[in-house]
Amino acid sequence: MRLLAFLAAAGAVLSTVNGQTIADLIKANPNMTEIAKLIPANPAWSQPGPNKTLFAPTDAAVRAAYPGGIATAPAPQLINPTTYKRYDVVSDTAGTISAVYDNYQEPPAVEVHLRTGTNEAIGRAGDVTSNAGGVLVGLDGILNPNLSPVATANTTTQTTISLWAMTVQQAGIATYVNSLKESTFYVPTNAAITEVASTLATLSQNQIAAILLYHIIPQRVNSVDLPSDNNVTTVLGAPYSIRLRYGGEGTSTINDATLGIPGDIETTGGPIQIINKVLLPNGGVPPTAIQLPAGVFAAASTTAAASSSATSAASRTAAATTGAASATTASAASSTSPAAAKPGAASRVIAGSSLLGLIAAAALAL
Ligand SMILES: *[C@@H]1O[C@H](CO)[C@@H](O)[C@H](O)[C@H]1NC(C)=O
Ligand SMILES: *[C@@H]1O[C@H](CO)[C@@H](O)[C@H](O)[C@H]1NC(C)=O
Ligand SMILES: *[C@@H]1O[C@H](CO)[C@@H](O)[C@H](O)[C@H]1NC(C)=O
Ligand SMILES: *[C@@H]1O[C@H](CO)[C@@H](O)[C@H](O)[C@H]1NC(C)=O
Repeated sequence: MRLLAFLAAAGAVLSTVNGQTIADLIKANPNMTEIAKLIPANPAWSQPGPNKTLFAPTDAAVRAAYPGGIATAPAPQLINPTTYKRYDVVSDTAGTISAVYDNYQEPPAVEVHLRTGTNEAIGRAGDVTSNAGGVLVGLDGILNPNLSPVATANTTTQTTISLWAMTVQQAGIATYVNSLKESTFYVPTNAAITEVASTLATLSQNQIAAILLYHIIPQRVNSVDLPSDNNVTTVLGAPYSIRLRYGGEGTSTINDATLGIPGDIETTGGPIQIINKVLLPNGGVPPTAIQLPAGVFAAASTTAAASSSATSAASRTAAATTGAASATTASAASSTSPAAAKPGAASRVIAGSSLLGLIAAAALAL
């Protein structure tokens, strides 16, 4: 369901108001008096269209979140949503929201669903007005600003992908992953990660980081824009590419994994797309000495060993840490080594077995 069809259907029931701009629509709408207070601060709303669409919370939505009215709302929340070219919200360049139309219903119950990585707001036909300048869609909620990829995966209520967040964190690459922009994150479900937990437990930090980076491509690919068949080099670098194949809803694939629903979970780095399998770089476990992109462990100490062998990893019983400052309780790896004593070093010597323990514990707790 594309926005075009939504708006065409909404046109059957919307009330047309005189005027040429989005600001005129706001002023004429009795449900948008809170948003009307923002007109002076948003000159673009007063410029003639055509073909602009403004998605904005209704008075009821604003007051539910801010009983004191929009003047008491923190500034970043007011950007949501901003002005979009008509029919083109899916690829919004600011990357602040994405739109889904999966609960589309026939008029008069027409709906458009917009969501960030952590919440959703719905515009219904009764709250849609238009004029020559564009379309105003009143939303029943206030969209949250997007979070980083790791924080989004950790908190999204749309599906359970928190183990990916934990694994990225434990591999010591969260800062790097969160620094990526205009990328696409193919994130395996918790079930998929649990399935390979015993394999991950035998790998070094380098190998685990390589596998995680193999799931990210340095370009935004929304689910509707998936190519029919294309191989795209991943953040891990050449020759490591993944094969994207559009097959329609529920049957598109990334290598041999199926792309799940929902898709397009927005983050500050681009969309998270859910997949049902962990992908192995070009089909196999990466070599221990695999070259990783520069700065991938940027937030961690540079003195710690970049990789640990399978044997030593397996022999460790270090409690994995969630923060750079936490200490390990390694029994085999001597915690008196200078590297381990430094803040940040702990996350570098994470052992596969501790990762396994964490994943297993987290999986049980779900
Ligand atoms: C506005 O949208 C209409 C309908 O899709 C299209 O025919 C027209 O070319 C658009 N105008 C501009 C300036 O984009
Ligand atoms: C204002 O809100 C009411 C109640 O939700 C709705 O029935 C009506 O259509 C809205 N009016 C406009 C112009 O959006
Ligand atoms: C995930 O959320 C929990 C609960 O808020 C928090 O304790 C944990 O540190 C978060 N993990 C990551 C990787 O962000
Ligand atoms: C992508 O790579 C696979 C495996 O190497 C190959 O079979 C396929 O033809 C490639 N597809 C494209 C579009 O290049």
